[in-house]
Amino acid sequence: MERQVTLLIFLLSFGFVLGQVSYTIPEEMSKGSLVGNIAHDLGLQLSRLKSGKARIFTRDSEEFVELNRERGVLLVKERIDREALCKQTTPCALHFQIILENPMEFYTVTIQVTDINDNPPIFGKREMKFKISESAVIGATFVLERAVDLDVGVNNLKSYNLKPTDNFALKLHNSADGNKNVEMVLQKPLDREKQEQINLVLTAVDGGEPQMSGTMQIVITVLDANDNAPVFTQKTYKATVTENSPKGTVVATVTASDADEGSNSKITYSITNALEDIINIFKVNEDNGKVTLIGNTDFENSRSYQIHLLASDEGGLTDSCKLIVDVQDTNDNSPEIKIMSKSTVISEDVKLNTVVTIISVDDEDSGNNGKVNCFISENMPFILTSSSNNFYSLVTDSELDRERISEYNITVSCSDEGVPSLSSSVTLTLQISDVNDNAPVFERSSYEAYIVENNTPGLSIFTVKATDADWNQNARVSYILEDSSVNGVPVSSYVSVSADSGVIHAVRSFDYEQIKDFRFHVKAQDGGSPPLSSNVTVKILIQDQNDNPPQVLYPVQTGGSVVAEMVPRSAEVGYLVTKVVAVDVDSGQNAWLSYKLQKATDRALFEVGLQNGEIRTIRQVTDKDAVKQRLTVIVEDNGQPSRSATVIVNVAVADSFPEVLSEFTDSTHDKEYNDNLTFYLVLALAVVSFLFITCLVVIISVKIYRWRQSRILYHSSLPVIPYYPPRYSDTLGTGTLQHVYNYEVCRTTDSRKSDCKFGRAASQNVLVMDPSSTGTMQRMQGEKSILDEPDSPLEVS
Ligand SMILES: *[C@@H]1O[C@H](CO)[C@@H](O)[C@H](O)[C@H]1NC(C)=O
Ligand SMILES: *[C@@H]1O[C@H](CO)[C@@H](O)[C@H](O)[C@H]1NC(C)=O
Repeated sequence: MERQVTLLIFLLSFGFVLGQVSYTIPEEMSKGSLVGNIAHDLGLQLSRLKSGKARIFTRDSEEFVELNRERGVLLVKERIDREALCKQTTPCALHFQIILENPMEFYTVTIQVTDINDNPPIFGKREMKFKISESAVIGATFVLERAVDLDVGVNNLKSYNLKPTDNFALKLHNSADGNKNVEMVLQKPLDREKQEQINLVLTAVDGGEPQMSGTMQIVITVLDANDNAPVFTQKTYKATVTENSPKGTVVATVTASDADEGSNSKITYSITNALEDIINIFKVNEDNGKVTLIGNTDFENSRSYQIHLLASDEGGLTDSCKLIVDVQDTNDNSPEIKIMSKSTVISEDVKLNTVVTIISVDDEDSGNNGKVNCFISENMPFILTSSSNNFYSLVTDSELDRERISEYNITVSCSDEGVPSLSSSVTLTLQISDVNDNAPVFERSSYEAYIVENNTPGLSIFTVKATDADWNQNARVSYILEDSSVNGVPVSSYVSVSADSGVIHAVRSFDYEQIKDFRFHVKAQDGGSPPLSSNVTVKILIQDQNDNPPQVLYPVQTGGSVVAEMVPRSAEVGYLVTKVVAVDVDSGQNAWLSYKLQKATDRALFEVGLQNGEIRTIRQVTDKDAVKQRLTVIVEDNGQPSRSATVIVNVAVADSFPEVLSEFTDSTHDKEYNDNLTFYLVLALAVVSFLFITCLVVIISVKIYRWRQSRILYHSSLPVIPYYPPRYSDTLGTGTLQHVYNYEVCRTTDSRKSDCKFGRAASQNVLVMDPSSTGTMQRMQGEKSILDEPDSPLEVS
């Protein structure tokens, strides 16, 4: 500075401007700072300054410099700011004059103000904001604001720099005005998703010493571009759902995110499966990704579903994922029973373990839900055996009997092992067909039937009936008369059996007096093949009818001759004159005879024993009584109606034979018997005597016989066997009435004594009267049947 001043003074010294001085000072000197020793430089005395009232004259409004007259120096009065003073003009100088009076002199003073680096570069704004899309391409330029430095020269703006330099680089352009345009060039793509806002600092530096700088914030907001596709959180989602879950059940939620923002990140979910089964079952909420059921999941139909899901943002970018939905089985299927083959009819004689039906069972569920057990009701002659793979055979387990149970309803029930268990059942109807395994069975073990004699031939006697437990033809019973003979005659000539109805017909008219009963067998045979049969014994009992009148055996009725019983006049009251003997070949009541006096010469003299036919006197015989007495005795049986026979008994009341003779000769048969009278009388007498003796002998022998019988019976305590007179015992055939009633039979013999014998009916004692030999009775079966009695100790000859 000193050199400058010196130089100026040198120049002034050799120029016209002795009165001109120049100084150079930096700006911004503090107040009072010395600018220059003007007195010295102008060669003026300090006193001159005082006297001359030296002062500064300037046209500027402001005085930056003052003159110190005492010291003769110029001092800084106001802070001098070059920038304010000269702006960018260089050089910058203050021009003023120093005026002196007495004499008036003036001097020109120039103060050149030099720049100091007192101003930093300054940006017009503290901050610049940019909005740049992340999709901006590399090379894109953005104009930045320039900085301004008031200083000049080297102190002026020198350069810029931008930090950080990650994405942008700075580019300076020299512009037409000599300034530099500042541009920012994109060097590396922006990524909003990484850095949404970028803060840069642009620094401008000047060239001063020390260097100064100014900064500006550059705030870059990265605008979103739809450069990010939605991304599912998982590529594959898994979910399970139990089948038959209700509609609306949330199966899973898929989530996708989009790094973009705004509408670029608004995600819409959708299902992309084309197959209807998915679309009809599942639905995704397009906003929140919840997958719900809108249809029914059926495990049996599909065990797993693959749902393809798409997430798309509004810019059209997408991502896809897969949702695998496994369906869990529930026990929603009952076992299904199928009958593979069956017999509806089986024979009752099938062997054990015969397969009746094969069924297959299927349950669509899985695991325990599909495990099936089958059973049939108990107490059936069948069992269910399980073969492999849910096949069951129904086999017979015990013997079948159609006659007991002809039809079975077999219910096969199957249930699975699910909880709760489901079951189903099927009913098979099985008919048991018949086998001819039952013979006909007669309703009774033996039959007995009664038929009254003298029936009309062809009369139906009764019906045998047999039933057969089998069915249809096997139960169709035919009745067959078994061959046998009765009394040497084929039984078929007695009876016939109707094959269809079992009605037994009489073939002929029976005569009780000939045959009292007979037996035969009837066979019942069914229509099976081979047929089965059984037989039964039928006993026909012929019942007596009162078809025979009593027959008088004594007195014998001769054609013309007269037989008379003699009664001595001395006879006592009750004298037995004679006994009428009669028989009736009928039996029972029909043979129960009673005797009555029908007519008599003198009714007061005789009576007839009602039951024994004995004719006795009932008063003393007198001389007045006629010799010839004629009695008519009627013999009646007890049948309904009763039959009777009459007999005339001649009685001679006389003491001597001639008396009798004369009497009988006189009265009745006077002419015819005259010649032979004597002969006949003698003959009659002889006959009477003979008969009498015979009777005596018979009575005695009977007595002896009975005495012997009673001895045996007392010792054997057996029922009393009635005595049958050898010739007339047939009248006692009481077997006929055995079941009707027991009655006591009073029998008469030809005993002269009253002889009424009582005996019990002998059941097996059957007598047959042979009609061909009249008057003779044969004991045939009576003896035999007694002999047949196993316990009988008796022998009857
Ligand atoms: C079997 O079932 C049928 C029809 O349901 C019925 O008519 C018949 O009586 C039943 N049989 C038996 C033995 O229960
Ligand atoms: C009757 O049947 C039995 C068996 O019940 C048999 O012993 C008998 O011989 C049969 N009789 C006739 C005559 O067929």
